[in-house]
Amino acid sequence: MIASSLSARPEIIRGLWATPKTLPPKLFYDEIGAALFERICTLDEYYLTRAELEILTSHASTIADLAGPRCGLIEYGSGAGTKVRLLLDVLDEPAAYAPVDISADQLARIAREIAAEYPGLSVRPLVADYTGPLLVPPLPEGTRPLVFFPGSTIGNFDPHEAAAFLRRAGITVGSEGAMLLGVDRRKDARVLEAAYNDASGVTAAFNLNVLARLNREFGSDFDLQRFRHNALWNDQASRIEMHLESLEAQTVRVADEPVHFAKGETIWTESSYKYDRSGLEELVRRGGFELARLWTDSEERFWVCWLTPSKLRA
Ligand code: AVI
Repeated sequence: MIASSLSARPEIIRGLWATPKTLPPKLFYDEIGAALFERICTLDEYYLTRAELEILTSHASTIADLAGPRCGLIEYGSGAGTKVRLLLDVLDEPAAYAPVDISADQLARIAREIAAEYPGLSVRPLVADYTGPLLVPPLPEGTRPLVFFPGSTIGNFDPHEAAAFLRRAGITVGSEGAMLLGVDRRKDARVLEAAYNDASGVTAAFNLNVLARLNREFGSDFDLQRFRHNALWNDQASRIEMHLESLEAQTVRVADEPVHFAKGETIWTESSYKYDRSGLEELVRRGGFELARLWTDSEERFWVCWLTPSKLRA
């Protein structure tokens, strides 16, 4: 079972009646959206996954040394589980793995697979929306927490929310643990726009699936032919914005109420913030961490950061 869009009802209603119109990005990840996202990760234009895997592979043994023996690995947004296997293969007898994801079906599948592949590892999945307050299942006694947040999903929060997220994650990390964080770097606008507007249209299908999902689960009557996917680089805000643009003036019924669209009006579905070095340092500091190690890929497109709790933390 996938977390139903009905649980996001207040955000949907608030977002569609606001100016500008918005929908929360967590609506992307029903079963169809999760599968489309896995395809995005394999696209030529979407360099993020390949770059992060290159970094994790190149620095796996250093990461294992930093994590130390018997760590408790907590992963936010476990997805298909490719990156975590890379870590589990090199870590020194990890004691536990707690994947946290909003997509319940995918989470149950990953938890089953990992438990079968790594006997002796205690697997403790948690279906949850990690963008809010979160209770992580307790780790076995004496394990050092390692929070893994790959994929540059931190970029889907605005910088203020991202710092608040890190502060909440810091509670799980505690005073002895660490965090392994993936962050996408600022780069040429053409590279960024291509990554979010791929030639084969998979990202467009991923974005439009939000409307199809509202039709399926929320009884709305969006005509997908009358909207198009748009991904734009906003240089000043340092983010890619994904929008669904209304191709004509139209009225759609959502929750039995009319929602009016002007021609060209958009629903803003996602922001993906890209960081330069000073922006990253500020984010980490405001999040209550120290940037202990920083690795990049051979083309300097992506960062993986090793964060330790700030000594200044209250
Ligand atoms: C999950 N997140 C990091 C992706 C991103 O790049 O912001 C989601 C995505 N949206 C479009 N393509 C991928």
